[in-house]
Amino acid sequence: MQRRTLVTCGLPYANGPAHIGHLRTYIPADLFVRSLRKQGKDTTFVCGSDAHGTPIVINAEELGVTPAELVQKYHDHFDETFKSLNIIFDKFGNTESDTNHNRTTEIVNTLIAKGYVFSQSIELAYCPTCDRFLPDRYVEGVCPDCGAVARGDECDQGCGKHLEPGEILEPLCKICKSKAEYRVQEHFFFKLSEFKGFLSDYLDKLGGTSNARNYAKGWVEGELHDWCITRNLEWGVRFPGHENLVVYVWVDAPIGYISFTEEWADEHGADWKKYWMNPGGDTDIIHFIGGDIIYHHCIFWPALLKGAGYTLPRAVVASGMVKIGDKTFSKSRGYVVWVNDDYLDKGFHPDLLRYYLASYTSHTKELNFSWKVFQEKVNNELVGTLGNFVYRTLLFAHKNFGTVPDGDIDSEVVEKIGAAKDAVTLAFNEYEFKRGIDAAMNLAAFGNVYFQSNEPWQLIKTDAPGAGKVVRNCIQIVKALAVLFEPVMPVTASAAWAQVGMGAGLDGASYDEATVAVEVGQPIPKPAMLFAKIEDTTIQEMEEILEKRVREATKKKHVTFEEFSELDIRIGTIVSAEPIKKSKKLLKLLVDLGENRDRQIVAGIAETHNPDDLVGRQVVVLANMQPAKLFGVESRGMILAGGSDSGGAILLVPEREVPAGTSVA
Ligand code: MSP
Ligand code: ZN
Repeated sequence: MQRRTLVTCGLPYANGPAHIGHLRTYIPADLFVRSLRKQGKDTTFVCGSDAHGTPIVINAEELGVTPAELVQKYHDHFDETFKSLNIIFDKFGNTESDTNHNRTTEIVNTLIAKGYVFSQSIELAYCPTCDRFLPDRYVEGVCPDCGAVARGDECDQGCGKHLEPGEILEPLCKICKSKAEYRVQEHFFFKLSEFKGFLSDYLDKLGGTSNARNYAKGWVEGELHDWCITRNLEWGVRFPGHENLVVYVWVDAPIGYISFTEEWADEHGADWKKYWMNPGGDTDIIHFIGGDIIYHHCIFWPALLKGAGYTLPRAVVASGMVKIGDKTFSKSRGYVVWVNDDYLDKGFHPDLLRYYLASYTSHTKELNFSWKVFQEKVNNELVGTLGNFVYRTLLFAHKNFGTVPDGDIDSEVVEKIGAAKDAVTLAFNEYEFKRGIDAAMNLAAFGNVYFQSNEPWQLIKTDAPGAGKVVRNCIQIVKALAVLFEPVMPVTASAAWAQVGMGAGLDGASYDEATVAVEVGQPIPKPAMLFAKIEDTTIQEMEEILEKRVREATKKKHVTFEEFSELDIRIGTIVSAEPIKKSKKLLKLLVDLGENRDRQIVAGIAETHNPDDLVGRQVVVLANMQPAKLFGVESRGMILAGGSDSGGAILLVPEREVPAGTSVA
């Protein structure tokens, strides 16, 4: 029996526009689906909007719209944007749908019935000013593991760890900025810890990319905490029997994968249970995600499915994260490239971006987006190699023959095409998109050499049938290239397909079409170039837009002298320094600030400075920094240091030794 494949993509939060980082989930997944279909595999491709979670509620509040309105707006936005990029889902749903509410309720009830859910009173951040509990993004504070500034349920600027409710240190209310307190409330937990043995075996067998498997294995070997699955929120899927609680967004969001399959199946007369309740095991579920949500897909999700008795995913394919110009992607710091404003609306062809993102580097590696490299890849590879070969072949064929001329196809050419087809298919099946695209591009390079060395422009003068044979071979290579590049660049590949007289319908053609001889006598119309060079001025313009965005996002406001005078900056002498248990980054310092007691200050310099070398050194200290507790250690002040994304901390020091406590102004 034919196996079935279900491919899903990490659901975009319906909370803001699409950026280039998102596309590293969707473009390779679409490429992969097209490639499976070219192998004749029964494949279904689903995705949809992630409608819930606190960022959406907070954003809607700030914009003065309802969460439902905000979600609808960005749902439509993503739906359209994906279509513009020819990322074609069989179903693009929404986790706010009735199907998803019902499926989530059913799964949660099943987990409760099976004894996998228990209740417990826990301490939760509560804002006395707003008079409410502060779920997830409503609270800001300090990561208990790495000391970085953290928001709600994740340490997104630091170690990336998922944070359970109540774990964040120094909680502040995101809305009114007042200091939150901890209050006790009853919440519901999923017994994740019971799945440790299961997960450990499951991960050994999990397919996909090794980064997903390996990270997850590391986490399972450590301590697996039970997982709080309820939140104090109005917006979301109600927790059964509790009017004031919804389930945590990371419960109902992946369940969306099931609901969207149900909705698709309903619309197409298929049976969703063959995908998700299939003990026979003839269905492969493959999740495409970014490296930031491996924990959720390789730990939480399989445990939930196992607990509720659903089919387990066969593979998780996790991409490396997209950076911008060497900087970690950050909307707030301006390091973001928008898909619409910065790309599609500027008139760039969607296929170029698909090519760039899929072929720039191996799928699991970080991808550092740069307009320069984008330009180089387009101009050298697409224009210089692929476009050039197709155009010179077809122009010569059109001018001299007007149809596909007669002539045998060389065995060397047949072999090259066959080898390229095998290499592309295998690489794509192994999620090695760059390797596959390189193999296809090598065929184009071979085509150029073949054309060049056979000199059909000379042959045509003396031996027209000989020239015709060269041309037919080249046209065969063009046909093969159209087939092999279709998953990557569907629009351009279809244009090439039409240019060799094959008409429409390339997306229905199998990989095997690459070696099917192109028919003699088929008309060769006047070709148009497949790609155009991107000019330097265009790239400069794009770089300026990005630079301006970063400048504006990071622009600090002016302060008055009075405001500056509020800062108590002093020179101090380090009296002692020691590591803090369980923290890689932090040191505990005692600093003489000219007061009758030395100050205890926690500084994030453990990775760059040896405690023993620090004793006796003078440093610059912000003495009236709000006191904070890091890893249970009180810190009363901040050591000033220069810092960069990669270089670590560089201590500021006085020009010469001065009495401890000397003030700086
Ligand atoms: N809503 C969650 C996923 C729920 S899946 C049940 C989410 N949404 S997202 O909008 O932040 O991201 C959507 C997809 O894009 C995810 O697969 C995510 O990993 C990916 N990426 C978002 N930003 C990214 C980069 N900067 N780089 C690479 N991929 C990233 O996560
Ligand atoms: Zn508040």
